Amino acid sequence: MRYSEDIIEEVRQRNDIVDVIGSYVRLQKKGGNYFGLCPFHNEKSPSFSVSGMKQMYYCFGCGKGGNVITFLMEYENDTFAEAVAHLASRAGISLPEQSEDREARRASEYKAILLEIQKHAAKYYFYQLKSERGKIGYDYLKGRGLSDETILKFGLGYSVPAANEMYQYLKKKGYTDEQLKDSGLVRIEERGVYDKFWNRVMFPIMDINNRVIGFGGRVMGDGTPKYLNSPETPIFDKSRNLYGLNIARRTRQPYLLICEGYMDVISLHQAGFTNAVAALGTAFTAQHGLLIRRYTKDVVLTFDSDGAGIKAALRAIPLVREAGLNCRVLTMEPYKDPDEFIKNMGAEAYQERIDQAMNAFMFEIKVLRKDYDFRDPAKRTEFIEEASRRLGVFRDELEQDSYIQAVAKEYGIDYGMLRNKVLSIPLSAAVPVTEKPKEASGRKREKDEGIRAAQRMLLTWLAEEPRIYERIADIIAPDDFTDSLYRQTAVLLFEQITKGTVNPGEILNHFIDDEGSYQEIARVFHTGLNEDATKEERNRAFRECVIRVRRNSLEKMADTAEDFKQLQQIMQEQKALEQLNIYLD
Ligand code: UTP
Ligand code: MN
Repeated sequence: MRYSEDIIEEVRQRNDIVDVIGSYVRLQKKGGNYFGLCPFHNEKSPSFSVSGMKQMYYCFGCGKGGNVITFLMEYENDTFAEAVAHLASRAGISLPEQSEDREARRASEYKAILLEIQKHAAKYYFYQLKSERGKIGYDYLKGRGLSDETILKFGLGYSVPAANEMYQYLKKKGYTDEQLKDSGLVRIEERGVYDKFWNRVMFPIMDINNRVIGFGGRVMGDGTPKYLNSPETPIFDKSRNLYGLNIARRTRQPYLLICEGYMDVISLHQAGFTNAVAALGTAFTAQHGLLIRRYTKDVVLTFDSDGAGIKAALRAIPLVREAGLNCRVLTMEPYKDPDEFIKNMGAEAYQERIDQAMNAFMFEIKVLRKDYDFRDPAKRTEFIEEASRRLGVFRDELEQDSYIQAVAKEYGIDYGMLRNKVLSIPLSAAVPVTEKPKEASGRKREKDEGIRAAQRMLLTWLAEEPRIYERIADIIAPDDFTDSLYRQTAVLLFEQITKGTVNPGEILNHFIDDEGSYQEIARVFHTGLNEDATKEERNRAFRECVIRVRRNSLEKMADTAEDFKQLQQIMQEQKALEQLNIYLD
C-alpha cells in the first residue's frame, strides 16, 4: 500500500514547483515560464523550463520532465515515498502513518539504523584515538603534522587491534547481526566474527549533511592495503559522495580542488584550502562531476605527480569536462602530493601553483608530448599529427583557434601549418564515432511514429487550449489513441476537461512509477504550440491532426471488424472523415 491519491495530490499542490525547483536551480522568468540551466545534463544556455501554470518542468535539451515529485526523485535520488515525505514536511503536512508505503518506510528506517551504527562507530574510533590504546594512531597523525583541531574537525579515529571489539560494542547497543553485517564494519563468518578495521587510523566519511556514511582506514606503517574502505552499503554510495564536500560546499572560493586521497584533503584544509575534496578510494566518476556541478563550475585537479596520479588525472579530465566543468590541472613537482608540497613549500607557494594551474587540454597535450622524442623528425611529425587530431574535436571555431595558437606556441610549431593540419582532419577521425542504434524496418516505423506524433500533438493542444475539446468530443474518444500511454493520458485529460480543471501536473502523478512514461508525458504537455503559425496554418494542422488520429483508429477497427455490417459502418465513417470540416478559431 502507498499514500492515497488525495494525499499525494495535496502534497503536490501545496509545493509550488517554481519555489521548489527554484531552491535548487537558478530560474529566470521568460514569458509565462521560468528558465534555467538543466540540472540533469550539461549545458551552457538554459533550456530547462518550469511552468507554474502546469506545475511541470521540462528540458528542451535532454527531454527530462515531470512534476515536483519526480523532480526530487531525480535530483535527490529520492524514492517516491521519500520525495513525498520531503515535500510534505516542507509544506507542513503531516502524513498519515498507516498509508505510507510499508516497503519504503522499512527501507528508510533501515537506513536510519545504519546511519546510527556509523555514528556510534565514529565516536568509538575517536574515543580510542584519544585513549592510551590509541596512542600509536594519535602519534601517527601528529607525526604527519595534523593539529588537534584538524583531528577533531574531521573526527579522525583509531581502530584497535582486537579481533571483534567493535562488533561486541555495537552488539551491546542492541544491533542485530544482520544490521552489523550490513554496516560494512564487521565480517560474520562461520569461523567467527571479525572487525573489518583493525589497527588503522580511521577517516569517517560524511555526506553533505555531515552524517557519517562509511570509513576509510589507513594502516599503521607499511602494511597492505594501505587504505581499507567501507564497502558500499544502502547508505554509502561511493559515486554520489566526495570526501570533504560537506565542508567544501560552503567555501567562498569559486572553484573546488579535487585531490586523490583523504590525507590530501585534510592537509589542504588544514593549510586553509577548505575547498578540497577527493573520491572515496575509487576513481573519479562522471557522477562525481555532476555532483560538483551543483556547487561550482570550476575545478582544479591536484593529483599525485607520479605515473599513477597522471593516469588518474587523464581519466578524470574527460569526465569532469563532460559534466560541463572547467578544468585545470595543477602540478606539484618536484613533490608528490599536496601534503608533501605544503609541508615543504608552504600554503602560499601552493596558492601560486593553483593560480598557474594549466588548462586541462594543454595538460593532456603535455603528457602526450612525453612519448615523442623531438630529436627524431619522424616522431615530431607523429606528435603533431596526434595533437592535430585532438585539436580537431573542438566544435567552436574560435575556441579551436585559441587552442591551435596555444599548442603552436608551446611546442614551437608553425601556426599556419598546424592550423592547416587540424582543418584537414576529417571529422570522423577527430570525433569518436558513436554508433547509432539500428532502426527496425523503415516504412512501418515511420508511419507509426507519424501517428504517435499526431496523438501527442492532439494531447498538447487539448492541454494548452482545453476549450477545443468541444470541437472534437464527437469525433475523438480516448480509445482512438492507439498508443497505450497516450490513451491513459487521454482518459485522464478528457476527464479533467469535462470537470473543468485542467491540471497536467496531477496527471503525471499517475505515471510516477515509470520514469520513461512521466518524462514522455511531460514532454507532450510542455511542448507548447507554434505561436508563430498563421491562423490558416494552425487550422490546417489541427484538422490534419484530428483526421489522422481518427483515421488510424478506424483502420484498426476495420482490421478487427466482426462482420460486414460493422465494416460497412466503418467505411462510411472513413469517407465522412475525409470531408470533415473542423477548425480552431
Ligand atoms: P595514495 O596511496 O596516494 O594515498 O592513494 P595518500 O593519500 O598519499 O596516502 P598517505 O599520504 O601515504 O597516507 C590515494 C587514495 O587512494 C585510495 C585512498 O582513498 C587514498 O587516499 N587508496 C589508496 C585506497 O583506497 N586503497 C589503497 O590501498 C591505496
Ligand atoms: Mn598520495
